Amino acid sequence: MRKAIKARIAVFVSGGGSNLQALIDQSGKTLKSGVITLVVADRPCSARERARNAGIPFAEIQRGPDFEEKALAILQERKIDLVILAGFLSILSAEFVSVYKDRIINIHPSLIPAFAGPGYYGLRVHRAALKRGVQITGATVHIVNEIPDGGPIILQKAVAVRKHDTPETLQLRVLKEAEWVILPKAAEMVSKAIVKGEPTWK
Ligand code: GRF
Repeated sequence: MRKAIKARIAVFVSGGGSNLQALIDQSGKTLKSGVITLVVADRPCSARERARNAGIPFAEIQRGPDFEEKALAILQERKIDLVILAGFLSILSAEFVSVYKDRIINIHPSLIPAFAGPGYYGLRVHRAALKRGVQITGATVHIVNEIPDGGPIILQKAVAVRKHDTPETLQLRVLKEAEWVILPKAAEMVSKAIVKGEPTWK
């Protein structure tokens, strides 16, 4: 039986790594066509422990002027096919994105185009949603292009806003009910397309 070829995945993180954990937990289940081969952090963060506990090679590359050059070098050395931004806070340049055209995906904690773009990250997204008074929010996985949160949408999942929500309670529900569900699914969809030599988005 020929061993199934899998897409080699690098996950970029900056924080707690709960989305990385969702990918790890779904490896071999929802995520079958890709394998997490590397975790890259742009700053000291507790996501490091999650990679270590899962036995996944980890690289911390300090954010700054030479982050991209160092990151590209290790991605190419490890023959990475797909980059997943999971709670990653640095903005990647158009040059970096062009090297991995249509092979970088990002999870954003709102239903893009709402509450997305420059300045919308982390709790700020949920604070803005509560301030606007939306009744439905959620999460989006999209292809990363040169426009922040602007690339083609791969998957979205809606989450109801509750009467007494705070940014923190809303963030946790969006993580649990949306992000941790659609990121592994989207990773599988894109990995399968890469392995089959098909476009990663329609
Ligand atoms: C969270 O705000 C999440 O909504 C967004 O990135 C932040 C941290 O995620 N995607 P993680 O726990 O580090 O994956």
